[in-house]
Amino acid sequence: MSWKEKIQHKYALSEQGANDMIKAFLTATVSNIVLMFPVGLLYFLVEDYLNDNLSGRGVFYLVGSILCLVLIAVTTYIQYNCTFLATYVESGVRRITLAEKLRKIPLSFFGKKDLSDLTSTIMADCATIETASSHYIPELFGACVSTAIIAVSLFFFDWRMALAALWVLPVSFLIVLSAGKFLRYLSRKQMKLKMACADGIQECLETVRDLRANDAQENYMAGLEKKIKAVEKHAVAAELGNAVFVSGAQMILKLGIATVALVGGILLSKGSIDLLTFFMFLLLVSRLYDPMQFSLQNLAAIIASSSNPFTGRQQIPLDEILSHPVQSGSTEMKYDGYDIAFSHVGFSYDSQESVLKDVTFTAKQGEVTALIGPSGGGKTTVSRLASRFWDIDKGTITVGGMDISKIDPETLMSLYSIVFQDVTLFNNTIMENIRIGRSDATDKEVIAAAKLAHCDEFADKLPEGWHTMIGENGSELSGGERQRISIARAFLKDAPIIFLDEATASLDVDNETLIQEALSRLIQDKTVMIIAHRMRTVADADKIVVLKDGVVAEEGAPEELTAKDGVYRHMAKTQLQAAGWKL
Ligand SMILES: Nc1ncnc2c1ncn2[C@@H]1O[C@H](COP(=O)(O)OP(=O)(O)OP(=O)(O)O)[C@@H](O)[C@H]1O
Ligand SMILES: [Mg+2]
Repeated sequence: MSWKEKIQHKYALSEQGANDMIKAFLTATVSNIVLMFPVGLLYFLVEDYLNDNLSGRGVFYLVGSILCLVLIAVTTYIQYNCTFLATYVESGVRRITLAEKLRKIPLSFFGKKDLSDLTSTIMADCATIETASSHYIPELFGACVSTAIIAVSLFFFDWRMALAALWVLPVSFLIVLSAGKFLRYLSRKQMKLKMACADGIQECLETVRDLRANDAQENYMAGLEKKIKAVEKHAVAAELGNAVFVSGAQMILKLGIATVALVGGILLSKGSIDLLTFFMFLLLVSRLYDPMQFSLQNLAAIIASSSNPFTGRQQIPLDEILSHPVQSGSTEMKYDGYDIAFSHVGFSYDSQESVLKDVTFTAKQGEVTALIGPSGGGKTTVSRLASRFWDIDKGTITVGGMDISKIDPETLMSLYSIVFQDVTLFNNTIMENIRIGRSDATDKEVIAAAKLAHCDEFADKLPEGWHTMIGENGSELSGGERQRISIARAFLKDAPIIFLDEATASLDVDNETLIQEALSRLIQDKTVMIIAHRMRTVADADKIVVLKDGVVAEEGAPEELTAKDGVYRHMAKTQLQAAGWKL
């Protein structure tokens, strides 16, 4: 790995970003050195003045001064371009790359991550890298290199005075570096507390209904207040800790001026140096420490931001996302019909307990295959695997004879209409929520699909009809209404393979019957998989697959299974008994 690639990985930069960072470092170095030019000019001016040599040199100093000003303006302009402007471009590139990557990463990645941790990585880390790559790092290295060059040249003038001016640099850096562990601890703790607080606030907003229903608000708020107070208290402590070390080191830097004056005074009185050298050193030290003062702050900021709050390791999680393998596959499909075949499929979510051990069955095109079994048996998992939301651990899944693990997930999705068990809606109008099924559908087509799913029943009653906003995740709709929108999406997409995961579970019996009629029109010639707990929903299926303990316990036509004394018959019997229950 070349050192440029190392920079790219460490700071999650694009190649252009790494180039810009190096440019920013070079321009910071040059612009720091250029800032010393006026000091040099002043030195010559004083020298000429003392030697009474000024006459005829006015033009030299005038041109010199103008040149200094122009150089300072030009280098500052270039530095600005290389840092600020390039950073904004790079931040845009990074966020787009990240979004593209997240689209392709398997869902298993999200299952293993805390979502608030991930959000903060995407939002906060991008911002941290933004400042780090544009300011902290190029400025720190620029200041170090330019100061080193100036320091070496000082030794040529007078090594004793150079030592008097420079001894403060390593000392102040050592102070900040030695506090590294403490600064990292403070920043880690602050991030942990902040995240706990943000999580608490989010959870509180999401669960406000349950908190009220259980009369648990007061207790919860007390806990939340504690978290907020802890953040506040620690923020003060962190600022103080930072201030003690950074300001302390900055004060030591200023001591350099005193030692130069002191040593210079003594050497001058002894006649070891001339007045001009003394004067020049005084002039230099007034400028020399300025970039260093910022650098000490930058160094502390780099140290504090270079640790992950949970692992404590120096790590940029963004790189973890960017280098995560994606689900790839061909974007061309060659299939023969739309039969879905599971063959000896094994799968576990977190490589501990396997949800599916050895599942083999076929859902034929033109038939309705019902998947039933106890709750937690893996029915929803089967639908997720068939649509490649997750990749299986062993066995194969084929659609129309092609192995789905070789097909690009987005391409594969064009074959599926899925009504999920947990409906997700967007804070948009009913019309747009249904249009998600097929983005190029006309309003007329959307409404036709919505009517098939009996959405008109409630949409007509809403103030703005189809154009009514439905709140975050459809919070202004009932469970059955949400489900009907989700069914309308499937109607609109009209794909050759249909998955209905408890699609009609929240509907009343009348509505369920009406929608099932519409569904039976939709599903002609298609491969349909229905997942349901209600036996009446699956009674008309062509084939029933009973999933239990990670394997197919039974499969066959409903009549065949009823005749057998197995799981299906037992489930049907207990539901019939339950229907007769009275409270
Ligand atoms: N994202 C996930 N990460 C880890 N484990 C999961 C995840 N989703 C489901 N599981 C686990 O996998 C098992 C099967 O879940 P699945 O949702 O497939 O069951 P199901 O048969 O659809 O149940 P139900 O009838 O209640 O909907 C359960 O034990 C569940 O805890
Ligand atoms: Mg389920």
